[in-house]
Amino acid sequence: MKSQPNPPPGFIKTPAEIERMRVAGRLAADVIEMIAPHVQPGVSTGELDRICHDFIVNVQHAIPAPLDYHGFPKSICTSVNQVVCHGIPSERRILKNGDIVNVDVTVLKDGYHGDTSVMFLVGRCEAHAERLVRVTHECLYRAIEVVHPGARLGDIGHVIQQHAEANYYSVVREYCGHGIGSQFHEEPQVLHYGRPGTGMELVEGMTFTIEPMINAGKRHTKLSQRDGWTVETRDGRLSAQWEHTLLVTAGGCEVLTARRGEPWRGAD
Ligand code: MF3
Ligand code: CO
Ligand code: CO
Repeated sequence: MKSQPNPPPGFIKTPAEIERMRVAGRLAADVIEMIAPHVQPGVSTGELDRICHDFIVNVQHAIPAPLDYHGFPKSICTSVNQVVCHGIPSERRILKNGDIVNVDVTVLKDGYHGDTSVMFLVGRCEAHAERLVRVTHECLYRAIEVVHPGARLGDIGHVIQQHAEANYYSVVREYCGHGIGSQFHEEPQVLHYGRPGTGMELVEGMTFTIEPMINAGKRHTKLSQRDGWTVETRDGRLSAQWEHTLLVTAGGCEVLTARRGEPWRGAD
């Protein structure tokens, strides 16, 4: 007897939807590549937001999905140092040498979403910060490697938790990856911790994100009472996150937000 139900048919994208997801994913990846050279000491996160907004709207003819999403005031999220996620770009937050910053981009094009984020090391960073960023990247890559039809959501969570904790880091539990498509956030929730062989079975045609948030210290977070968005580590230590949007395929998965130079992206 099956202990877990198969995903309802709504989780499976049609070929036409998948084509739109590929387009949206590529656009999100392109925004990251475009903004990368701008992430330097002295730039404000507000300026990074403005550059991304203008590129998405005027060059890509697409929509920055975060803008006005449940009242979010900006077009991207910028999460610096102890900020776990959902940092609000600001003219007053000027990046300085040694900061680590996550830039999270979600593009809506022709009714479909692509969602991806990367960490940038600003100037020269301390070795412990670089190490957190690297191990978090490894968590995402290891998780992507386990995605194939028949694998389970718990397998994804398990490899992330295992690698983070083997490095004496902790996994944030209050926020997770998510199904994605015509809606920014769809079912299922993709937890970044778990046990192998548990949770929903992955089926060809599902699209979802994996976006581990890994803390240098304890896993607990606090939501800013001042802006209602910014999530920080409770202990004030560093947090890192990387995110991709994936499609489950017969052979494994397609990384819809792969950038040039990543293993899932052909030369172009
Ligand atoms: N991009 C985030 C994610 O990966 C969500 C940001 S929601 C916002 O799911 F409102 F803060 F923009
Ligand atoms: Co996401
Ligand atoms: Co995102």
